[in-house]
Amino acid sequence: MSSDGRQRLGVELGSRRYDIVVGGGLLDEAGQHIGPLLKRPRVFVVTDSTVAGLHLPALAAGLAASGIQHESVVLPPGEGTKDFAHLERLCRALVEKRCERSDLLVALGGGVIGDITGFAAAILLRGIGFIQVPTTLLAQVDSSVGGKTAIDLPEGKNLVGAFHQPRLVLADTGVLATLPRRELLAGYAEVAKYGLIDRPDFWTWLEEHGAALLDGDTGLLGQAVATSCAAKAAIVARDETETGDRALLNLGHTFGHALETEVGYGDRLLHGEGVAIGMVLAFQLSALLGLCPAADAARVQRHLGAVGLPTSPRDAFGHGLGPDAARLIQHMRRDKKVQDGRITFILARGIGRAFIARDVDPALAERLLAERLAA
Ligand code: NAD
Ligand code: GLY
Repeated sequence: MSSDGRQRLGVELGSRRYDIVVGGGLLDEAGQHIGPLLKRPRVFVVTDSTVAGLHLPALAAGLAASGIQHESVVLPPGEGTKDFAHLERLCRALVEKRCERSDLLVALGGGVIGDITGFAAAILLRGIGFIQVPTTLLAQVDSSVGGKTAIDLPEGKNLVGAFHQPRLVLADTGVLATLPRRELLAGYAEVAKYGLIDRPDFWTWLEEHGAALLDGDTGLLGQAVATSCAAKAAIVARDETETGDRALLNLGHTFGHALETEVGYGDRLLHGEGVAIGMVLAFQLSALLGLCPAADAARVQRHLGAVGLPTSPRDAFGHGLGPDAARLIQHMRRDKKVQDGRITFILARGIGRAFIARDVDPALAERLLAERLAA
């Protein structure tokens, strides 16, 4: 915690290092944080229409207080915005507004806005800088940190993109007050993920404080966001482009993506909800393989269920409506993390002891899925 009550962390990537600042009311003082990074007092804010209505005025005032002008581009909300048509619209709007190579884009929104703005910044004028101002819990603890930027193709999510690190992340926990509870919970799954990967003490802390945090305790939210960002920053610093350890961040994602693919990306199953179910399955598979105590798998399911997240593949479908397990395994085989035809699973030897496994027999995962779909 620094003297101004903000938590400041660094993503240590040499010449591309950057700060993450976490705290309430950061939008109001955005200009103080952003100003020192600018060549001229002007930024280009990219946001969606929902966030624009709720939080753009505060950001605009926070910039103006430091004499920084802004132009804004407002895109529609939702995953459908992460496509070539909106990327073109965004790039053309920025060129029209005379964005220059030394200017910075500011992504004000959730992961959708962060991902498309970051990708536009990676390619516009052969690459310009950008700042993340994440407004969902998921974006504050995951997508705004680490420099993965992308848009989707009809063939799959995030298939066109680039690694392009932001210059700064400003995570204003105050903006989470307007986030629908379901979205907050979906982000909480990613928070819990860090405890399960390599921070067992954080997991225990979440078991104690998770419910209060989700009820809006801003102090607890700030602590959870900062701890999550520190956990992610440490992994990104040792493996920026996912040639090794960064794959740990996909805990729960192999199963989760298969479920998302099956139900169709959208409101029926939010990404974080799929990750919650996937993390429970990853621990159950680890227990089935004799790698992890069954009690740890039960503990994961108990806590995620207690805060209100779905924890079984059955929760993703209506009663008796689910696919068969073999179909979900087929979705996993098409995942972009497949290597030499083998599905990558992130398993665990216990809470906080996740590891990457490339030699799991998919028949075992299929058996587990069949059991869970029938249970
Ligand atoms: P999102 O950006 O679609 O936001 C969810 C909804 O909440 C939207 O309707 C948005 O308008 C609204 N919203 C945002 N902030 C709000 C606020 N403060 N108050 C009220 N409403 C608000 O979704 P998301 O869950 O933030 O992000 C999902 C995206 O992130 C996916 O496209 C996923 O692929 C991507 N992602 C990227 C990474 C990465 O490393 N780059 C990691 C995880 C997820
Ligand atoms: N969200 C996974 C990653 O950033 O690698």
